[in-house]
Amino acid sequence: MGECFELAWMLVCRWELRTMKRFRWLGCLLLVGLAQVWLVGCGGDGGGSDSGAIKIGFLVKQPEESWFRAEWRYAQEAADEKGFELIKIGAKDAEEVRSQIDSLAVSGAQGFVICTPDVRMGPAIKRLAEQNDLKFMTVDDQLVDAEGAFMTEVPHLGIAAKEIGRQVGKALYVEMQNRGWAVEDTAACVVVFKDLDTARERTDGAMEALIEAGFPVEKVYQAPQKKDETDEAFNATNDLLTNHPEVRNWLVCGMNDLTVIGAVRAFSSKGIGKDRVIAIGINGTDVQDELGKDNAFFGSMLLQPRLHGYDTVSMVYDWIQSGVAPKADTRTTAILITRDNYEQELKRQGLWRE
Ligand code: GLA
Repeated sequence: MGECFELAWMLVCRWELRTMKRFRWLGCLLLVGLAQVWLVGCGGDGGGSDSGAIKIGFLVKQPEESWFRAEWRYAQEAADEKGFELIKIGAKDAEEVRSQIDSLAVSGAQGFVICTPDVRMGPAIKRLAEQNDLKFMTVDDQLVDAEGAFMTEVPHLGIAAKEIGRQVGKALYVEMQNRGWAVEDTAACVVVFKDLDTARERTDGAMEALIEAGFPVEKVYQAPQKKDETDEAFNATNDLLTNHPEVRNWLVCGMNDLTVIGAVRAFSSKGIGKDRVIAIGINGTDVQDELGKDNAFFGSMLLQPRLHGYDTVSMVYDWIQSGVAPKADTRTTAILITRDNYEQELKRQGLWRE
């Protein structure tokens, strides 16, 4: 292209001399046109995107949460290794989800991974992605359609929620026995969040396992939280405790660590501490500080954020790069961490903060 440019310049100069500057303006126009073609050919983008680069978005509903930060960190690892650009986006409500998907398309991205703040946006997200020719999959929270059914046509990676919830229920029961608490003196406080399937499956699993182990169904109390936030879990637990001053000992669980942290705070605000409470969370990413203290937090089910971050973006990358679509449904497992093993297990997953 550079040679063409030089040749054109030469011709224009000669022509100029010959025609005694009669057609100088025409020559200049020709030159400007060629210069533009040359710039595009050389990859000068004048603000546009590098045509060959792969860009993948990673949208999460709670960008400040340790869980989602861990997902992003592992997704970035995949991007650095494979050489694509990762665009990390926090989208806390439906409007942000819509506008951010549009901006992704404008920025030249070819796909995204999403944990949406509202799973009922499923059909809207799918439509937007199709309109913008973006490949996408969901992580953590699976999309539902207008009837509330899972949109199984969208590839998904999430936790084996029911099973992990059952692990929580069993562990609570075992620890109650270890402490020699009588069932008659004990009740369960299950903070439930009914608007999200993965949350409901977790607490359903916990209640199911507790009852199967022999815990009386009538002593399993549910505290509904309005949103999946620590403060809401605090309020829900507070209300429950006001209604049950007669209970001596408590088994506590909920959809994730942040919920259980809220519940434990509500107990402690009423003067009920670790000698009367066994609390187990889910995620494991938010409990280093809790387990570092001597409080009612007994443990957490440690998930595998690496699979949720690294694997999901890698799947979308392969899809864009070689047309291999992600597996339709992938479920990840968890292990119980307590004060005995949390340091070792968090370090093993690269989640320990010094
Ligand atoms: C949901 C929760 C997160 C985490 C993930 C795991 O999105 O809000 O805290 O538990 O599920 O998949």
